[in-house]
Amino acid sequence: MRVIVPLQAVVQGRGGLVLGSLIPCALFYFLQLYIRRDRPSSSASNLPELAPMPRSLSRSLLSPRGSSGPVRLSSRGASVARDDDNPYYVGLKRCAEDPYHHSSNPNGFMQLGLAENWLSLDMIRDWLVGNVKEPLLLDEEGELSIHGLATYQPYDGLMDLKMAVAEFMGQVMQGSVSFHPSQIVLTAGATPAVETLSFCLADPGNAFLVPSPYYPGWDRDIKWRTGIELIPVPCRSTDNFSISIAALELAYNQAKKRGVKVCAVLVSNPSNPVGNLIDRETLYDLLDFVMEKNIHLISDEVFAGSTYGNDRFVSVAEVLDSENFDRRRVHIIYGLSKDLCVPGFRVGVIYSYNENVLAAASKLARFSSISTPTQCLLISILSNTKFITEYLKVNKEQLCDMHALFVDGLKQLGINCASSSGGFYCWADMSMFIQSYNEKGELKLWDKLLNEAKINVTPGSSCHCIEPGWFRCCFTTLTKQDIPIVMERIHRITESN
Ligand SMILES: Cc1ncc(COP(=O)(O)O)c(C=O)c1O
Repeated sequence: MRVIVPLQAVVQGRGGLVLGSLIPCALFYFLQLYIRRDRPSSSASNLPELAPMPRSLSRSLLSPRGSSGPVRLSSRGASVARDDDNPYYVGLKRCAEDPYHHSSNPNGFMQLGLAENWLSLDMIRDWLVGNVKEPLLLDEEGELSIHGLATYQPYDGLMDLKMAVAEFMGQVMQGSVSFHPSQIVLTAGATPAVETLSFCLADPGNAFLVPSPYYPGWDRDIKWRTGIELIPVPCRSTDNFSISIAALELAYNQAKKRGVKVCAVLVSNPSNPVGNLIDRETLYDLLDFVMEKNIHLISDEVFAGSTYGNDRFVSVAEVLDSENFDRRRVHIIYGLSKDLCVPGFRVGVIYSYNENVLAAASKLARFSSISTPTQCLLISILSNTKFITEYLKVNKEQLCDMHALFVDGLKQLGINCASSSGGFYCWADMSMFIQSYNEKGELKLWDKLLNEAKINVTPGSSCHCIEPGWFRCCFTTLTKQDIPIVMERIHRITESN
C-alpha cells in the first residue's frame, strides 16, 4: 500500500482511472514473480515438513509487544481476585472440593460453615415433582404460554410474585404486619438486594455501622462494588451479644472525628451469626438513634420465618406500624433463600418505605433480575396456602429439633452456645480450647478443626467478633445421624488442646 498509493496519486492526476489502476497492478504482479522465483516450493523441498507453529507462539515471536509483562486488571478487580484468604471462604472451598457423605465419602469435610437448610428440602422436592409442569408451561386454556415466559418482563419482578411474596412475608411474621407489593423490589437473591439498597443510600467512602459479630458475607456484598465502609460495633458475650446503643453512639462519633460520613445502621434480625432476636425495645431505640442522626436503618430479616423457641420474632415493620417514626429511612431485606430453603432459585426482596429508594432500586434491578420461569414457579408454590402453612410449621419443628440436638451435643463436650431463637446455626464458645487468647489462637483452633478433624466452622474473627474463641456452627445441612460424628471429630481436637 505504501508503494501503490503514492503512485496512484501521481498517475490519477494525469491519466485517470485506467492508468491509475493498471500500473500499480502490473508492478505488484512482477514483484510477486520475482519473490517466488527464489523460494523453494514445499513439495519440491527435501527438508522434513515442519509442524505448524502454534498461532499464539508464532504471533508472540513476530510481535514482541504481546509477550512481556502482566495483563493488568482494574485495582478493584485485582483486589477481588486476591481476596481469598478469609477463613470463611477457605473453609467453604475445602468442603466443596471434598464433601462428606456418610457412605460414599465418610472421610470428607463436614460442612458447618454454610447457612443453608436441607432439613425440609424433601417437601419442596415433592411439591415440584407433582406441580412443576403447570405453572411453567400452561396458561388458563391449557396452552403453552411462551410469551409470558420467554419475553422481557419487568426487571424488578412480576406483580403476581410481589403479591405472593408480600403475603408470604406476612405469614412468616405470623400475621402481625401486612406488607404491600408496591413497596417491593425483587432481585436475584438477598445479596444483590442489600447491595442495590446500599448503592441507593450511600456514596463510596461513606460508612454503615454494623453491630458485630455480623454475617461475614456483608464484607463482600456491600464493600466490594459500592466502596462503602462497614464499621463493626462490638456486642459483648456478657449480654448475649445484644445491640448496644451506647456502642453505636461511640462508633458514630469516632467515625465523625475521622471525617467519615455514616449513612445507616445495618442489623440482621434474627442475628447471623448469633441467632438471637432483636427485642421490641431495642428496635424502638434503633429507630430513635437513626432519626436523631438523620441516617437510615436497614434490617435484614432473611431468617424471620426460621425461628424456634419461645421468643416471638418482631419485625421492624411491626414497630413502624405501631409508632409514629419517619418510615422513609427504614428498609427491610428479605428473600426466599432461608425461609423457603431455595437459595438456588435466587430470590431477594428490598422492602422500602421510601419512594425514591424504590424508584432507583427498581431501575437497578435490571442488573439482577430473577428469570421469569423461576418467578412463575414461585408464584405457584407461594399461592398454595395449604402447602406453605404446612411447610412453615414442619420446617420450624425440624429446626427446633436439630438445634436442641446439636447444642446438647456441644454441651456434652463442655462447649456452651449463646442463647438463640433463630437461624441455621449456633454461636459456640470454644475460647477454653484456644492456646493463646487472641485471633491467632482462634485461627489455630479453626485450622485444626478444618485440616485435622475435617470440620468447617466459621471463626468469630471472620464475623468481626472482638472476643476470641467463638465459632458459628451451621447444623441444617446435617442429618441427625451426622451429629455424633461431628461431635466425635470436634472432641478429638478439643481434648488434645
Ligand atoms: C443475613 C444474611 N443476609 C443475606 C444473605 C444472602 O442471601 P442470598 O443467598 O439470598 O443472597 C445471607 C446468606 O447467608 C444472610 O445470612
